[in-house]
Amino acid sequence: MTEVAAMTDVPPPAPDAPKKIGMLEQPWVEKYRPTLLSEVVGNEETTSRLQAIAEDGNLPNLIVSGPPGTGKTTSVKALALALLGSKTKVGVLELNASDSRGIDVVRNKIKSFAQNKVTLPESRHKIVILDEADSMTTAAQQALRRTMEVYSSTTRFALACNLSGKIIEPIQSRAAILRFTRLSDSQVLSRLKTVCTSESVSYTSDGLEAIIFTAEGDMRNALNNLQATHSGFNHVNQANVFKVCDQPHPETVKSIIKACQGGKTKEAVAGMRSLYGTGYSCSDIIATIFKVTKTQQIPEPMKLKFLREIGFSHVKIAEGNATLLQLLGLLGKMCEVGREMGEKEDAMVVE
Ligand SMILES: Nc1ncnc2c1ncn2[C@@H]1O[C@H](COP(=O)(O)OP(=O)(O)OP(=O)(O)O)[C@@H](O)[C@H]1O
Ligand SMILES: [Mg+2]
Repeated sequence: MTEVAAMTDVPPPAPDAPKKIGMLEQPWVEKYRPTLLSEVVGNEETTSRLQAIAEDGNLPNLIVSGPPGTGKTTSVKALALALLGSKTKVGVLELNASDSRGIDVVRNKIKSFAQNKVTLPESRHKIVILDEADSMTTAAQQALRRTMEVYSSTTRFALACNLSGKIIEPIQSRAAILRFTRLSDSQVLSRLKTVCTSESVSYTSDGLEAIIFTAEGDMRNALNNLQATHSGFNHVNQANVFKVCDQPHPETVKSIIKACQGGKTKEAVAGMRSLYGTGYSCSDIIATIFKVTKTQQIPEPMKLKFLREIGFSHVKIAEGNATLLQLLGLLGKMCEVGREMGEKEDAMVVE
């Protein structure tokens, strides 16, 4: 009885609550996943080749490789849809890294799919999509070699991966390799703006710039960060984006680099100590130092020397030497460069 009373005590949901849950249910990356090849942003050369394959209808075995979040899975799926239309369900076998894809699966599942008879549009092939194929074991890939050849009259393979080097050479030689590159800032920006408009997101241009800065040409990352900032703060500006993305704030890093340029070691070290104290890892910090240095207005010779030193420190940090001392050592070197080159500039001015 008391339980029932307690249950009836639950206050009714706020009128706007269901809307919010509905909004959060579908991630924007999925909601705005292009279904047509023509909607895929960027990598024009690659997508136009895929488009040509879709029009021609003769799909070669394909390997699509490139960095994450650039549209590989999307393009391969869009290609399959363009080729098979309403028959996509029966004519496509999609296996990704979450499915088991050992030798047994190649021997049984893929083989039996290739042997199956299905009615497809004329001169079309069944398609096996192996997403994240670089995570397949070498043995499973070896088992695929002969299957690809034996059933080539009825079945074609489309492999998507991040590193084409992880696909064994015999499969590479049986397939056409298409490469995706990171998307440019303007391509990500235009897509973000489209999404902002259709989701009525309130944003500032520096907010979108911050998303692009953190995404580094990865559209999935950009859309996820946009959605996270929107649902967390209801307004996308620079400060909110950096709160959500949890990366060292580029403005803080900028001021440290500025101090190095002027050879002000004390100031740079104090800035770094407080940044490190906020809990960021060394690799996050050094990655941001690199990105900021790359884009900041610094005289070219000095920038090159800075990047060289940052590179050396990045290697040491990646090797496991991730300590504050490492970062401070880097600042010491950068300040030395700043002082030497700054003096030279001053001397030139005096002359
Ligand atoms: N070129 C693009 N044009 C439009 N949207 C894109 C593009 N690339 C990625 N996206 C967005 O990012 C999401 C993820 O893209 P996709 O799954 O194709 O990435 P991927 O290249 O396969 O990455 P991964 O290597 O991590 O598998 C898509 O749902 C889509 O919303
Ligand atoms: Mg993918």
